[in-house]
Amino acid sequence: MKVLVATEKPFASTAVNGIRKEIEGAGHELVLLEKYTDVQQLLDAVKDADAMIVRSDKVTPAVLDAAKQLKIVVRAGAGYDSIDTAYAKTKGVVVENTPGQNSNAVAELVFGLLVYAVRNFFNGKSGTELMGKKLGILAFGNVGRNVARVAKGFGMDVYAYDAFCPANVIEEAGVHSIADQVELFKTCDVISLHIPATPETKGSINYALVNQMKKGGILINTARKEVINEPELLKLLSDRDDLKFVTDIKPDADAEFCKFEGRYFSTPKKMGAQTAEANNNAGIAAAKQINAFFKDGCTKFQVNK
Ligand code: 3PG
Repeated sequence: MKVLVATEKPFASTAVNGIRKEIEGAGHELVLLEKYTDVQQLLDAVKDADAMIVRSDKVTPAVLDAAKQLKIVVRAGAGYDSIDTAYAKTKGVVVENTPGQNSNAVAELVFGLLVYAVRNFFNGKSGTELMGKKLGILAFGNVGRNVARVAKGFGMDVYAYDAFCPANVIEEAGVHSIADQVELFKTCDVISLHIPATPETKGSINYALVNQMKKGGILINTARKEVINEPELLKLLSDRDDLKFVTDIKPDADAEFCKFEGRYFSTPKKMGAQTAEANNNAGIAAAKQINAFFKDGCTKFQVNK
């Protein structure tokens, strides 16, 4: 079988070596398409692929139509909003993700961004500490749980709201469970977003919600840019000069946000999962899932059943 690794943002080379070892070890062929700049390169590369490993690469109907032999796509990561899962289903293509494999990397970046924000973006002026501050985690999935674990090391008081996770699971992790999203924003000094981009969550981080935050509140986004209502957040930052917004996903209106100097920061390119460890974990898990699919028909991680 031909397995295409198509990554506009490549894995670390150790991860590529690990993926190759798994795929070739199972008797399959590995083809690499890295740093492609034109979608046509992807359309050409998928033509004869039986399986594909991607990151945030867009797997659109056009890509799926071009991939005549494709049987399985594995998103080496958590969020699969970049893949047209419903269309894949109509084509009989299994879509999987690799949940949890890069979550520690994302969680660690939350604290990199957070320390940077509370220390005034390293401008030399007195900032604040994290110890004793209230951290609100919006969605208690794999990343949210890792964020909670690290936050406790900083001595933060940790709260979480999750529409789907039972309160007792949150409490058992030593985190205060909050029954509603608005209450989370009202309670906490810092809010860290870990919701997926779904029709329900898109644009849900809006003026009314973020305006519930206390004076000096910090909003951190390492999830998806689509969950932010950008025009409303811009308006709020303009109305309230005490709030900060830091993000690992450059907003569409980045230039507008940059006007809030000292209160806004975005990484140049999404880098939450950009560690050798996360690339190894997610990439090799993806390769193993493909091998299991071809060997036994295993679809344990299928997201388009
Ligand atoms: C994920 O959904 O797993 C993360 O957002 C990482 O995405 P990336 O592989 O594009 O860095």
